[in-house]
Amino acid sequence: MFKKGAFIFNVMFSILLSQVTITSPQELTFKNHGKVIKELSLEKLKKVIQSTTITVFEPTESENIRYNGFPVNNLLTGIYGDKWKETEEILFTCRDGYQKSIPSIEFKEYPSYLVYTNPDKVEFTLINRLQNNQLVDLGPFYLVWDNISHPELQDEGASNWPYQVTTIDLINFRDRFPNMAPPKNSPMNVKNGFLAFRQYCMACHTINGEGGEKSVELNYPVSVTEYFKESWLIKWIYNPRSVRFNTTMPALNPKLKDRETVIKDIIAYLKAMKDNKRKP
Ligand code: HEC
Repeated sequence: MFKKGAFIFNVMFSILLSQVTITSPQELTFKNHGKVIKELSLEKLKKVIQSTTITVFEPTESENIRYNGFPVNNLLTGIYGDKWKETEEILFTCRDGYQKSIPSIEFKEYPSYLVYTNPDKVEFTLINRLQNNQLVDLGPFYLVWDNISHPELQDEGASNWPYQVTTIDLINFRDRFPNMAPPKNSPMNVKNGFLAFRQYCMACHTINGEGGEKSVELNYPVSVTEYFKESWLIKWIYNPRSVRFNTTMPALNPKLKDRETVIKDIIAYLKAMKDNKRKP
């Protein structure tokens, strides 16, 4: 009896624990092609980079929200000097395994901010309407874009808005992810599908072990195209909740032009990778 009681207590206690938001220290790691060059706390960052308040149209909540944070270009120049401008991409790694690689051109073209608090509320959280209304913790850092001065960014949805960012790395895509690329002589639809996969899928999924680890591998040892019928795969990418009602995978951005073509290209890419399996 006593043992059973202790067991139930343990279970209750761990459920309780899992519901307490674990606030990690607000720290940011900076890497250069995989090598750590600096680790700075929020307090230290504030001393080096001027923080500011920015209002953005929050794509996951569909309303204007204010945040405090650092202009990313100032932050990158402060840490890396002007060298960051020559890098191909900037890779953001997050606490939950999400990884987002964004071409550095985007940062030169549009103002973005790495934010760390919301001045209008105590919690640094939001309700992710794109992911089954999950309440998400945004800290330690959250990448947002000035999509009010640049409304064209609003059509892109939230794919360039990683939250829980812990690490920034300057990378060349092929060096960092050599096993994800399709063969060089692939047809155009496969190449386009690879670009679309990078933009919309790799933040959460790996291919041959490379990419974001928030969700499952899609190619090794068995490609998803081998056990998912193509028509169901299309339906899944189009609207995952029409297949599994409680899934947290977001639908491919509904505002995207040529959505059908993008989905077909992504599947062409996945099929090409079925014949290019590499052990992670
Ligand atoms: C924000 C994270 C996220 C993004 C972005 C994302 N997925 Fe997913 N995906 C998931 C999660 C989580 C699951 C787990 C399955 C579930 O919840 O039912 C999943 C499951 C899947 C599955 C089913 C795998 C299986 O064996 O059951 C496929 C196929 C898939 N995703 C393809 C894609 C494609 C293609 C894209 C890009 C268009 C994409 N995903 C973008 C999170 C994501």
